[in-house]
Amino acid sequence: MAESPRFSRFLRHTSGTAGPVVAPSLLAADSGNLAAALELAERARAEWIHIDVMDGVFVPPISFGANTVAALRRRTGVFLDVHLMTVHPERHVAQFVDAGADLVTVHLETAGHAHRTLQAIRAAGAAAGIAVVPSTPAALLGELWDEVDLVLVMTVNPGFGGQRLIPRCVRKVEQVAGARRQAGARFLIQVDGGVNRDTAPDLRRSGADVLVAGTAFYGAADPAAVVRDLSAAGR
Ligand code: DX5
Ligand code: ZN
Repeated sequence: MAESPRFSRFLRHTSGTAGPVVAPSLLAADSGNLAAALELAERARAEWIHIDVMDGVFVPPISFGANTVAALRRRTGVFLDVHLMTVHPERHVAQFVDAGADLVTVHLETAGHAHRTLQAIRAAGAAAGIAVVPSTPAALLGELWDEVDLVLVMTVNPGFGGQRLIPRCVRKVEQVAGARRQAGARFLIQVDGGVNRDTAPDLRRSGADVLVAGTAFYGAADPAAVVRDLSAAGR
């Protein structure tokens, strides 16, 4: 099957030669002015934008929908990384790809037939990610290595920005990185929750390729400096 242009863009991030990708999370931005939040991230030279989709069921808040992703896509060519924190993600993945998502990540805890849902994301033309919450062991991911382009290791319990990273989750990043080596697989490892200048070096050294930063980015006086520092973390 020919690779879609969006998927090819994703693969450019898998060479492993450059520093980590930094993905500002819009959840921490002013939701009344997402256009400005997007511009801030672009000016800071962030390569990805992380969009948290919360359904009020899997996690308490309700946040952005596919219309938000479509509106952002009309304004930017930047890589749109959609993190679906929803039950029944299989019902939603196609609309987010249609809206312009480059990557759609679903939770193992709600995916049911994760294998099929990941295949559906790829078939729709985006890269496919699988996320695990802190209480889900890395070992459960092992059957999915061929189907995933990215593994998102949540470093806080999902639902809210501004939480402290749970130190034990750093070990899970190491475990996933070790399993990736052993399997000779080529997915990226993303971390999300409590990522900042203090926690990024360990995460990077443990094998994280994509650092999501909400509060650390949008709460900073100089967000561009945050992107620079996180990109150099762990060197
Ligand atoms: C939490 C979300 C995160 C959140 C991270 O459920 O998935 O993307 O925005 O926020 P910080 O970086 O503030 O921990
Ligand atoms: Zn997220």
